Amino acid sequence: MTASTLITHIGSLVTNDPSLPGADPASGPLGLLRDAAVVVEGDRVAWAGPAAGAPATDNAVDVGGRALLPGFVDSHSHLVFAGDRTAEFAARMSGRPYSAGGIRTTVAATRAASDDELSATVGRFVAEALRQGTTTVETKSGYGLTTRDEARALRIAREHTQETTYLGAHIVAPEFADDPAGYVALVTGEMLDACAPHARWVDVFCEQGAFDGDQARAVLQAGQARGLTPRVHANQLTHGPGVQLAVELGAASADHCTHLTDADVDALAGSGGATVATLLPGAEFSTRAVYPDARRLLDAGVTVALSTDCNPGSSFTSSMPFCVAVAVRDMGMTPDEAVHAATYGGARALRRDDVGTITAGARADLQLLDAPSHVHLAYRPGVPLTSAVWRGGKLAYRR
Ligand code: NIG
Ligand code: FE
Repeated sequence: MTASTLITHIGSLVTNDPSLPGADPASGPLGLLRDAAVVVEGDRVAWAGPAAGAPATDNAVDVGGRALLPGFVDSHSHLVFAGDRTAEFAARMSGRPYSAGGIRTTVAATRAASDDELSATVGRFVAEALRQGTTTVETKSGYGLTTRDEARALRIAREHTQETTYLGAHIVAPEFADDPAGYVALVTGEMLDACAPHARWVDVFCEQGAFDGDQARAVLQAGQARGLTPRVHANQLTHGPGVQLAVELGAASADHCTHLTDADVDALAGSGGATVATLLPGAEFSTRAVYPDARRLLDAGVTVALSTDCNPGSSFTSSMPFCVAVAVRDMGMTPDEAVHAATYGGARALRRDDVGTITAGARADLQLLDAPSHVHLAYRPGVPLTSAVWRGGKLAYRR
């Protein structure tokens, strides 16, 4: 029989399961318990509830009144890359605007890198994220833009996560600068054939300077025909058709959602949670842009996720705690809402019900904070609070 472990003396436990006995109704969807305990058996949570009611187990860990949360679910990153864009960042911070064109710099460096280098980079950032509480990471291709380079990016990404996204339509490849239609034909044809076996999702950067609504639709529908589910880089830099297209095609997520009309907000709300609005505050932070209005989305009843968008151009952070802090400070979210969006919201954006919650049957992906409550993630910005992380029931990091 699998050994069971009791994690007890949890000062405050975020479960994201408000139906759990003992959950504070005032905490709403966060399903907060105080003086709580969790039982882990194998890779799963076997029980969660008030410490006083915990069942007998083989082992016990006393966490001394600290906060336990589901591991963060980072549902949007671009980790298969090489090279460096420090100079571009520095130029931006002295006034130059961000544009999609910077992606070309990373494409050139990524094509020149070896498989081993790329794999080491993905591994390094997945590990960096783990040390900050992240237990599930989605990551994308998009810096190869040839059939060979996109397929290899996804093959390498799959060594590190099952949540892989085909983003051949990140920008038009430099070789097709004069023939965007030819590039869309490649992305929806031969390149898709090579990439689909290594991907779960299909994505497109629907934006001025990248792909317009018709091109984005063609890319997403071709992906759907190959069994991939859409997610969309939508309305990041300008108003555009991305969000509406995402909802119309049943995308799991519309990502960025920075420039929204009322009709965009209505469309997301009308999806009934099927299309999550994934907000990426690292991108606005690092491009010195206006933040998305999370309050407006939440008040309209939209399901919101927070993610890092970790990439070398627009958002070079792997830190979900940083995103939580910014979302609370500058995007109108309460600490409860931001933590919920960074855990449960991310799981919804990946259509996963085994992660993002701490309840019987969930994967035992847990993070312990060196703090008495999850609110400290926003209250103590920039402070490394991650004290221990369990992934699939195994202690994966301890400070
Ligand atoms: O999500 N928006 C498109 N892609 C990335 C940026 C990639 C880059 O600048 O290298 C993003 O922000
Ligand atoms: Fe992105």
